[in-house]
Amino acid sequence: MDTIYTKPKKHFLAIFSLLFLSFFLSINLVSAQDGEKIFKQNCAVCHSMGSNKVTGPGLKGLMARVPGEEWLLKWIKNNDALIKSGDAYAVIISAFDASAMTTFTNLSDDEIKSVITYIKDYKEPVAATPTGTTGGGAVAEEKGVNPLTLLIGVIAFLIIIVGVLRGVRHSLKNLQNEKLGIPEEESVGPWSEFKIWVSTHKRTTAVAILFIVGGLLSAGWYSLKDIGIYADPAQHREYQPGQPIAFSHKIHAGENAINCQYCHSGVERSKTAGIPSVNVCMNCHKGISKGKLPGGTEEIAKIYDAAGWDPEKGEYNKPSKPIQWVKVHNLQDFVFFSHQQHVKVGKQECVTCHGDLKEMTTAKQVQPLSMAWCIDCHRKTEVPGMKDNPYYESLHKKLAEKFKNLPRDQRKYTVDKMGGIECGKCHY
Ligand code: HEC
Ligand code: HEC
Ligand code: HEC
Ligand code: HEC
Ligand code: HEC
Ligand code: HEC
Repeated sequence: MDTIYTKPKKHFLAIFSLLFLSFFLSINLVSAQDGEKIFKQNCAVCHSMGSNKVTGPGLKGLMARVPGEEWLLKWIKNNDALIKSGDAYAVIISAFDASAMTTFTNLSDDEIKSVITYIKDYKEPVAATPTGTTGGGAVAEEKGVNPLTLLIGVIAFLIIIVGVLRGVRHSLKNLQNEKLGIPEEESVGPWSEFKIWVSTHKRTTAVAILFIVGGLLSAGWYSLKDIGIYADPAQHREYQPGQPIAFSHKIHAGENAINCQYCHSGVERSKTAGIPSVNVCMNCHKGISKGKLPGGTEEIAKIYDAAGWDPEKGEYNKPSKPIQWVKVHNLQDFVFFSHQQHVKVGKQECVTCHGDLKEMTTAKQVQPLSMAWCIDCHRKTEVPGMKDNPYYESLHKKLAEKFKNLPRDQRKYTVDKMGGIECGKCHY
């Protein structure tokens, strides 16, 4: 009896392991083709898919201006070598920005090709939720197949295949038995047959379980890890998303010395600083229609488009629509933070928390915005004007009493001493 079983069983095992192998190969293949992911991890810091500049040029219309795909492959792999080789277009484009593009000799040709395919086939997403004048709203959601769905699909497929194979095996076995003159064996239920198979194939089963659990874990990890995260954690300190209009703080707040509050009028009187509406831009840009940067004039035209302004006729004659700025700083919803408290009462400078905007072309996040960061500052920073601020008079008296035995230089009324590190102050 046993000899009759072994042959088809081995056959079955071989097919089964082959399927498993191809399953994992196909998973690998999928991730290698995943140009979007590679782009987001390696390129999105410096390139937008639209037309606005980040550090590198916006990649819209790229295929029309570069010499070809072969050229792209060489450029992305090692732009430095291509520039040095004297390649005409490489030399021209190298003058685009003072900072050079990273070389990607670590990426395989196939990976780079998948990125090129992604750029080539890219279609602009349908508009995200409007951010209006408050600058709220989140980054457009990522698209693509959820790895978990993929895994479940593959497993379902496997089960079907196994079912079919079982049937085939059963008929094969009966055929063989018939040849050997053994009467047709009774069909056992699939579940008990599965149990027999497992008990006779302990090692294969263990390996299979290991693979399935591993696969599920990694799929789960990938689908969970991006929730609520706006940037690659490794780049979190310098999160700098592309914006719909290449607005430069350097030109406005720096070179033209426009006061921050002209545009962020909420800082002294509300929780949020606010992002200016397109009307604020129009206060000046009705008159300023030309930029000095390459593409600057086109960028200003986008303001007109949003405001519904016709620069030729000098009138608003089209429907207006809000500019959809991408929010750079994102505290979780469960954290309370007020600009008024920090800027007006606490006399903190914008630069401490946001870096030097006067030098930035595109706004970026330079501080971690973590709980440790908030608390660290609250421990170190003295509450300004504690002595002559009537708001703090009674508190100041209490603190003076409490710390009267401390040496004078340690008698600091830091934010934590007035309760600035109590959980309830920052958490709803
Ligand atoms: C550190 C920033 C940075 C990163 C990261 C980066 N680039 Fe660039 N890229 C640039 C700059 C800057 C230029 C313009 C050339 C120059 O000034 O040297 C450029 C130019 C290009 C060009 C030519 C654009 C044109 O209009 O002709 C392509 C294509 C390109 N990059 C693709 C990529 C891809 C694909 C990746 C990711 C694998 C990537 N870049 C990653 C900064 C970057
Ligand atoms: C002429 C108007 C204008 C002026 C002046 C201005 N800003 Fe802005 N600011 C904007 C616009 C528009 C955005 C949204 C686009 C962006 O993020 O680059 C913005 C974004 C920001 C952000 C990022 C907000 C986010 O999404 O998290 C910060 C921080 C900021 N500004 C701080 C400043 C500071 C500090 C100053 C003064 C040194 C200043 N701004 C001056 C118009 C202005
Ligand atoms: C208080 C006046 C003022 C306001 C308000 C203002 N701008 Fe400007 N903007 C300027 C000046 C001045 C320039 C520089 C023009 C130049 O140097 O050629 C400029 C230039 C620009 C440029 C082109 C950059 C270049 O030189 O190529 C863009 C784009 C721009 N602004 C966008 C905006 C947006 C978007 C807003 C609203 C959020 C805005 N501006 C609000 C005064 C203003
Ligand atoms: C103590 C640190 C701190 C200081 C000082 C500070 N900010 Fe902010 N700012 C933040 C944090 C944190 C956020 C994110 C808020 C959120 O997501 O709810 C933020 C967000 C912003 C935004 C995005 C829109 C919004 O209101 O959420 C703008 C614009 C901004 N700040 C401008 C300014 C300007 C201008 C100043 C100076 C007058 C300033 N900030 C001073 C910490 C600070
Ligand atoms: C640069 C230093 C600094 C940073 C960073 C900072 N704060 Fe503050 N914070 C202050 C100062 C100074 C005050 C005192 C203001 C006052 O006098 O009421 C304060 C007060 C507060 C208060 C009111 C406390 C009370 O007892 O009423 C809250 C809430 C608060 N901060 C939340 C935050 C959160 C949330 C963050 C991080 C996202 C943060 N702060 C980051 C300096 C800072
Ligand atoms: C000065 C403001 C501040 C105070 C005080 C504060 N937190 Fe937070 N907390 C934050 C900020 C900002 C975040 C979100 C940033 C992050 O996730 O790192 C946060 C995040 C958290 C989280 C989520 C952690 C995570 O990784 O997402 C927990 C839990 C938490 N705080 C608990 C507490 C408890 C308990 C206390 C009192 C002992 C406290 N917090 C006091 C500012 C504060």
